[in-house]
Amino acid sequence: MDVFSDITGIRSFVKNQKRKGKTIGFVPTMGSLHDGHLSLMKLAGEKADEVVVSIYVNPEQFGPSEDFEEYPRELELDLEKCQKMGVSAVFTPSDEMMYGPEKFLKIEVNDLNRYMDGGSRPGFFEGILLVVNKLFNIVAPDVAVFGQKDIQQFIILQQMVTEFNHDIEMVMNPIIRANDGLALSSRNAYLSEEERQKAPGLYRSLQYIEKQISDGVDSPKLLLDHQKSELEAKGLKIDYLNVFVRKTLTPAETLIKKEQYIIAGAVWLGETRLIDNILIEF
Ligand code: PAJ
Repeated sequence: MDVFSDITGIRSFVKNQKRKGKTIGFVPTMGSLHDGHLSLMKLAGEKADEVVVSIYVNPEQFGPSEDFEEYPRELELDLEKCQKMGVSAVFTPSDEMMYGPEKFLKIEVNDLNRYMDGGSRPGFFEGILLVVNKLFNIVAPDVAVFGQKDIQQFIILQQMVTEFNHDIEMVMNPIIRANDGLALSSRNAYLSEEERQKAPGLYRSLQYIEKQISDGVDSPKLLLDHQKSELEAKGLKIDYLNVFVRKTLTPAETLIKKEQYIIAGAVWLGETRLIDNILIEF
């Protein structure tokens, strides 16, 4: 497995592979890799000949009061995991390599940014678009794999690929969970034992809402209010809990047959923010 910290290195690796007729599957990450990330790598390997992973904690997508400094970094362990997964190359740029001295441009998100994480974390998706746009231009993959865990990220990036004409197939991998249902996340490492016990409550609420909707409830407001108070009573502080229209990422008042929806929530457990979602068709 090759490890490159410079843009020239990864570019010539990719060029060489393409010259040999190989396709490139790309998995961008911020490291601290868990089984969720590894399943993305596996899927990338099924979709393309060679898998490239990037590991870069992107400062541009953290707000001033967010956890950029605390974000777990364990590069050696991550590289071992990539190697075991049969990854061909890892790109581990420094901040100087990713963001040179010139930074006059930014990418803005329109309406897809108004709710969910976009609503709660100003600048978050602008930072993600900037870094993924750069990574796509550096790695120039044929296929890129992202997780459903961050479904708004996937949808906005898919829009970027369409509107900015990136020649990349976007693939979404399902959410990988712990045995008790908690979606795996690098941030789960922040949870105390007591918080970790409470954490699967979010997914249970989403599942309850999913069940009610599949039983025919077409106006989710009361259901959501009830689940919000249940979660608050269990000590999970609600950031948002709602049913969103898949196409527009806006809250759904009344559900329409055959339309796709995302039941999504974000909660705080102490200092840790957890997100999760379920994709459904009504
Ligand atoms: P990170 O949080 O490291 O996640 C990297 C990829 O792994 C994302 O596509 C995310 O959706 C996916 N992922 C995380 N947890 C998962 C789980 N439990 N099941 C399935 N997939 C999961 O997302 C980012 O990094 C960054 O925003 C990035 C795209 C790298 C840009 O900086």
